[in-house]
Amino acid sequence: MSKKLSKAEKQAKYIRKFKKMWERSQSELCEVRNSSIHGRGVYATRLIKKDEKIIEYVGELIDKEESERRANVQAEKAAKHGDAAVYIFTIDEEYDLDGNLPWNTARLINHSCDPNCQAWIDGNRIFIHALKQIKIEEELSFDYGFDVDTWEDHPCRCGKQACVGHIVSRDQWSELHKRKQAKKAPAAKKSHQSASRKPTTK
Ligand SMILES: C[S@@+](CC[C@H](N)C(=O)[O-])C[C@H]1O[C@@H](n2cnc3c(N)ncnc32)[C@H](O)[C@@H]1O
Ligand SMILES: [Zn+2]
Repeated sequence: MSKKLSKAEKQAKYIRKFKKMWERSQSELCEVRNSSIHGRGVYATRLIKKDEKIIEYVGELIDKEESERRANVQAEKAAKHGDAAVYIFTIDEEYDLDGNLPWNTARLINHSCDPNCQAWIDGNRIFIHALKQIKIEEELSFDYGFDVDTWEDHPCRCGKQACVGHIVSRDQWSELHKRKQAKKAPAAKKSHQSASRKPTTK
């Protein structure tokens, strides 16, 4: 039978848990700086080899119900104050990781349409690895993998030549193109109609 913990023991356990998490979140391969993509970003402090493990994305493991509750709280905050950063990372169909901890450096990695990193999920842990060789001073980025259904809410400013204009999972780019075309189509039809209604010169 497990022993009932006193308040002090519970506090000590909680502190140990966060200390461990803090240790896991540290990395000498990168640091936080202002980003030209958005707000703050994470930059390489030395040359990083392809596949090398860069940093762990740490956070609190939460179920989908709690995740949705937190995301809604965040959305309300965003509507009021314009602070739209959400740090919830999908682990699997049951769980997410809420990385909203001030010392979780990896939470500040921005999205890119031509990323140099990739998140590897190992059990309930998330590690950021290099997708290719990364030069010192280069900004780290990965594909946020956002669903195409929310494309209009997330314009992309990654600045890459391959930028698709919105933060959408690369797997869904063809669907994104279709949706963009469908949105453009009525406008194109309208301008065609107005052109055909031009007054003829006498
Ligand atoms: C988890 S935060 C990343 C850190 C963020 N730069 C910051 O300073 O808090 C995710 C938010 O950053 C912004 N962001 C990340 N990548 C972006 C990109 N490629 N283009 C535009 N905004 C981006 C979006 O507002 C997104 O919701
Ligand atoms: Zn982009």
